[in-house]
Amino acid sequence: MSILKIIKYGNPILRQPTREVTKISKKIKTLVNDMLDTMYHANGVGLAAPQVGENLRIFVVDVSDPKGPIDPIIFINPKIIKKEGAINSYEGCLSFPKAYTNVRRYKNILVKAYDINNRPFVKEAKEGCLLARCIQHEFDHLEGKLFIDHCRNRFEANEVLSKYNLPPVEEDKLINEDFLEEEIVKFEKEHPEIVEKQKEETQETDDTNE
Ligand code: NI
Repeated sequence: MSILKIIKYGNPILRQPTREVTKISKKIKTLVNDMLDTMYHANGVGLAAPQVGENLRIFVVDVSDPKGPIDPIIFINPKIIKKEGAINSYEGCLSFPKAYTNVRRYKNILVKAYDINNRPFVKEAKEGCLLARCIQHEFDHLEGKLFIDHCRNRFEANEVLSKYNLPPVEEDKLINEDFLEEEIVKFEKEHPEIVEKQKEETQETDDTNE
């Protein structure tokens, strides 16, 4: 078990495509254990293999109460098989020290993956809970996508990045999210009271690192 170096934004490794795990070897098991150690050491709620320099389709998450016992979930070769609804939430990333921004995500998702014993499992995460958002964030890492790519435009992204002396986002990386945007606008119009409450909560809650 060891703590690995977390690769920071600007390193091309974070943009590289990942490959499927073909065998859960001893080496993979060691990597997963090291990823968990690294995530806990950095006080993160999620970590993907590219963030420690391995271009493999693996990520780990733990969204349990930091004061309680640990509850890690290991996702090997994950596939998001269902996604619906939309939600706006505040996100950060262990590869972007201190930078946070609002990110649009699907509200409900269903993921299929393999665990460390090569057993398939299905995980459902609903109502834009931390787990739902975290899984989408980590899954993005496997696709070479980063949370900053979800900004509406380069201006918005670079405003966040420049504050922390991080390099600007590449224009072709920004993701078009008209569907999510439409859903969010519709929801905000119908439920202004919930939006107000969420704003207050965002200001109050501690930042999470993924
Ligand atoms: Ni991240």
